[in-house]
Amino acid sequence: MRKGILLAGGSGTRLYPITQVVCKQLLPIYDKPMIYYPLCTLMQTGITEILVICTETDLPLFKSLLKNGHQWGIKIEYTIQAKPEGLAQALILAEPFLNGSPSALILGDNLFYGHQLQTTLQAANNMTGATIFGYHVADPQAYGVIEFDQHKRVKSITEKPTTPKSNFAMPGLYFFDNKACQYAKKVSPSARGELEIVDVIIQYLNTEQLNVNILGRGTAWLDTGTPDAIADATQYIAAIEKRQGLKISCPEEVAFSMGLIDQHQLTILANQLIKSSYGQYLLSLINKNFPDEMHQY
Ligand code: G1P
Repeated sequence: MRKGILLAGGSGTRLYPITQVVCKQLLPIYDKPMIYYPLCTLMQTGITEILVICTETDLPLFKSLLKNGHQWGIKIEYTIQAKPEGLAQALILAEPFLNGSPSALILGDNLFYGHQLQTTLQAANNMTGATIFGYHVADPQAYGVIEFDQHKRVKSITEKPTTPKSNFAMPGLYFFDNKACQYAKKVSPSARGELEIVDVIIQYLNTEQLNVNILGRGTAWLDTGTPDAIADATQYIAAIEKRQGLKISCPEEVAFSMGLIDQHQLTILANQLIKSSYGQYLLSLINKNFPDEMHQY
């Protein structure tokens, strides 16, 4: 079974003073903490064992919010990343937790939403080798960038190039087979002093074990590295949730709809939050007879 790694380390210096006391992944995106969004992405993939990686200072806060996951029908463990030394380091830190299992690594500040997204995630879950995603963005130089040849095969992947070879950025969600830890250990620190995830992915590319899945226009991929990006993500989530009367990336709802918790447990969770519209929303889900299409995220 594939296990999840949720990386919520880093010092958030690009968001100072907002993140001087509270870490980025605990900031709100509209009506819920940021980390709920990537957590739900892993849950929608069908992953039920998740390792949260964070700093020592933030560990008690994450534990207090997410607990051991049992309340949502999943299992959450924690590991400390002492210094932000790169995404590939998460794979090395997660080695004992993975214990030879394949993984899905997601960044704690990446939000995914869109029609049929769950189908896309579950398809990636069933692939061998490594699977990454490509997403058309206006500012590729801020990301890992994927270059394709004329046969639409991956030609190169470059971290934050000054002159990007395409507009296709690589979102912070990666599916790996059980070779990822071994590949991560071969990576040397980059000029910015980090073990880059790109250098793990290139090893899959060189051994023809890399799949790339382009996320279409109907999918939203948002990251939240700057105050403007947080404001954009908040407005996006608010607009959709208010229009539909449905919530995006609500772990209690995802757990209930995936059969990880029952109606009784959902009622308990709802009552704990009942003074908020979030808690009232959870309660409204009970006895709601949605057509099948509405269970698709
Ligand atoms: C990281 C990765 C980059 C990826 C991005 C997605 O960048 O290194 O390849 O495109 O996440 O959010 P960073 O968060 O270190 O700027």
